[in-house]
Amino acid sequence: MSINERLQELEEMRETAKLGGGEARIEAQHKKGKLTARERIELLVDPNSFEEFDMFVTHRSHDFGLEKQKFLGDGVVTGAAKINGRPVFLFSQDFTVLGGSLSETHSEKICKVMDMAMKVGAPVIGLNDSGGARIQEGVVSLGAYADIFLRNTLASGVVPQISLVLGPCAGGAVYSPAITDFVLMTKQTSYMFVTGPNVVKTVTHEDVTSEELGGADTHATKSGVSHFACENEADVITKTKRLLEFLPQNNCEDPPFVESTDPIDREDEALNSIVPDNPNQPYDIKEVIEMVADTGTFLEVHADFAPNIVVGFVRLGGRSVGIVANQPAVLAGVLDINSSIKGARFVRFCDAFNIPILTFEDVPGFLPGVDQEHNGIIRNGAKLLYAYCEATVPKITVITRKAYGGAYDVMNSKHIRGDVNYAWPSAEIAVMGPKGAVEIIFRKEISVAEDLAAATDAKTEEYRQKFANPYIAAARGYLDDIIEPKTTRGRLIRAFEMIESKKDSNPPKKHGNIPL
Ligand code: HXC
Repeated sequence: MSINERLQELEEMRETAKLGGGEARIEAQHKKGKLTARERIELLVDPNSFEEFDMFVTHRSHDFGLEKQKFLGDGVVTGAAKINGRPVFLFSQDFTVLGGSLSETHSEKICKVMDMAMKVGAPVIGLNDSGGARIQEGVVSLGAYADIFLRNTLASGVVPQISLVLGPCAGGAVYSPAITDFVLMTKQTSYMFVTGPNVVKTVTHEDVTSEELGGADTHATKSGVSHFACENEADVITKTKRLLEFLPQNNCEDPPFVESTDPIDREDEALNSIVPDNPNQPYDIKEVIEMVADTGTFLEVHADFAPNIVVGFVRLGGRSVGIVANQPAVLAGVLDINSSIKGARFVRFCDAFNIPILTFEDVPGFLPGVDQEHNGIIRNGAKLLYAYCEATVPKITVITRKAYGGAYDVMNSKHIRGDVNYAWPSAEIAVMGPKGAVEIIFRKEISVAEDLAAATDAKTEEYRQKFANPYIAAARGYLDDIIEPKTTRGRLIRAFEMIESKKDSNPPKKHGNIPL
């Protein structure tokens, strides 16, 4: 064979590989409103940056007629690329090849890029669109999944891992995305569940559609499995790129600094009046975040799950900062099971990847109720406390209004290694709200008063005067300063700059035992 013939053979094989399961299946994929594995990669990465591996890999199975169904690449496109000039490793499952099902070799390809990402120190992005374990391969494909789960776990906290779920992801297959740091799903075209609607119907007699059981909205609002429910695949890609901008390449690097044109000392008058005089009136903490952050940089994560706490990324003077904020506009910003879990996981992500944490605090306490107690608000609330306590990244808190009870301690108080703790003059810091406190400590006094209501009001006012302010905490040094709200941006940027080189550590141990 001449070199030209050899080159032609190579070219033909590449063209065959690029067609995956063939024209008809590509058309079927498009008809479902889905892109192909390669089209997705093209949208995601910088032009001409994709270096593909293992294009010629085929499966080794001879059972159930599989020997007659060999496709170059075996249902997954893998390799390295750049996104906004920064290296990533990725795999993109090809549903047109045997439903994107995971074989031994398909898994080997994924494991190879994961291993390389770990050696190089670069994020792993998985584009999931698969019918699950390749049924014809039996236990071999189960083992192949476990090979990936192990790598997901070992890579956790070392390199960022992002899962884009763009089609089916069912059975045990869900546990790979579940271990990764962020899950993005497309509405209507993706779903994740351990057992599908048919099994559910058989076992529990419940009628439910795939979308209701495990669609993007369900996982973004109810289960919290998905961090972003996206309108379509283009939206998933855009959000993934934005997300990556805030993240370092690995746990030994700092997140990228992006020069900001937004003035450091920009003051927003509206901040001075955003907290209503009436402590029971809500306001939107997201407005505070937007006003304080570099203009237009706020990327909310997990927006629709447990909205009584807000988490996400901003830039402050160009620095990447993770935000955790109680949301007084939802359930008065109370901490419950889901918001504690949401906050804790985000704090741990930021801490693992050297992203400083900014906490905005306005929290009336933990949510009372039989349901909360029986479902473990103790165990789950402890997660957020634990996460803040163990975090050694720079940590700043701004108490905008309420900081009551255990929630005061939990939300990055000075006592659990908050580095800089500020409060606005509207802050109220006490063991509990004035009304509840008065009912307990002045119960006897009030019960003998002639006018019960007047006595309660008087004592409530006395308690409010004494505790519903930041000065007692400031007098003890639990707060470093009480700041005028409109100056918050400048104060925070300077404070983060001041503590940038902070070094702190935890005692040597194999790992802690967070109450899971
Ligand atoms: C082998 C598979 C497959 C699989 C799909 N295909 N899933 N082949 N193993 N797991 C093949 C189909 O036979 C079909 O081939 C082609 O892919 C396209 O599938 P369709 O069914 O035509 O597509 P669609 O109608 O869109 O339905 C998609 C689907 C369905 C809902 C995913 O294919 C499905 O239910 N598949 C099986 C899902 C499943 O039970 N997987 C195992 C889960 S358990 P042809 O040639 O006929 O077109 C699991 C355990 C993991 O994954 C454990 C880890 C611990």
